Amino acid sequence: MASKKKSESGFSRRTFLKTVGASGVAAGVLGSGRVAEAQGVNAVGPGAVPIRLTINGTVHRLEVEPRVTLLDALRDRLNHTGLKRVCDRGSCGACTAIVDGRTIYSCSTLAIELQGKDVRTIEGLTEGTVLHPVQQAFVKHDGTMCGFCTPGFVMSAAALLERYPKPTVEQAREALDGNICRCGTYTKVLQAVLDTGKGVSRG
Ligand code: FES
Ligand code: FES
Repeated sequence: MASKKKSESGFSRRTFLKTVGASGVAAGVLGSGRVAEAQGVNAVGPGAVPIRLTINGTVHRLEVEPRVTLLDALRDRLNHTGLKRVCDRGSCGACTAIVDGRTIYSCSTLAIELQGKDVRTIEGLTEGTVLHPVQQAFVKHDGTMCGFCTPGFVMSAAALLERYPKPTVEQAREALDGNICRCGTYTKVLQAVLDTGKGVSRG
C-alpha cells in the first residue's frame, strides 16, 4: 500500500528513513554542521527555525525543529486535528494530506520541506458548512464506521477526482490502496468515490 504513496509523492517513508539514516551516520562522523557544509547546503537546526507553511490557502508562520513532521505541525501547533495519527509510520493513510495536488503521508513528511508548497488538509475541503461532494457521498453510502480512517480516505478520493473526474474502478482502487480501514468499509468507500465521479452525490 505504501508504494502508491511513493509513486504519487515521489517521497516515500523508505526514502525518508534512508535520508535520515544516512544523515545520522554522516553526522556521527563529521558533525551535522560539517555534513551540511560538505553537501553545499546551509545547516538548520537542531533547534527551532522559522518556517512558512501555506495550509488550505492561509500562510502560517511558525517555529519548528527541522525534525518536526507536517502531521505534528498541523495537530500540535496549528490545531488542525482533522488528519489522524494512527500508525505514525507511513503505512495506514489516516494522515493523508494533499501537497501540490498529490497525496502524501503527513506523518512521514517533514514540515520544513513543504515551504512554498500548497498544502491541503481535510479542514480545507468544506465550503462553509457545505461538505465536499466526496464527503457527501461517504455519508450517503455509509462509508464510515469508527471514522478514524475517514479523513485520509476522503483526501485520497478528493485528489483522485481532481485528476480523474470520472475514475474507473481500477483508478479508484489504486488511489485508495494506500489507505487502511480496520473497520472494513472498503466496499462502501469505493462506491462513494465512484458515485461522486458520476455526479450522483451532487444530485
Ligand atoms: S498515521 Fe501516517 S500513514 Fe498512518
Ligand atoms: S471506519 Fe474505522 S478504521 Fe475505517
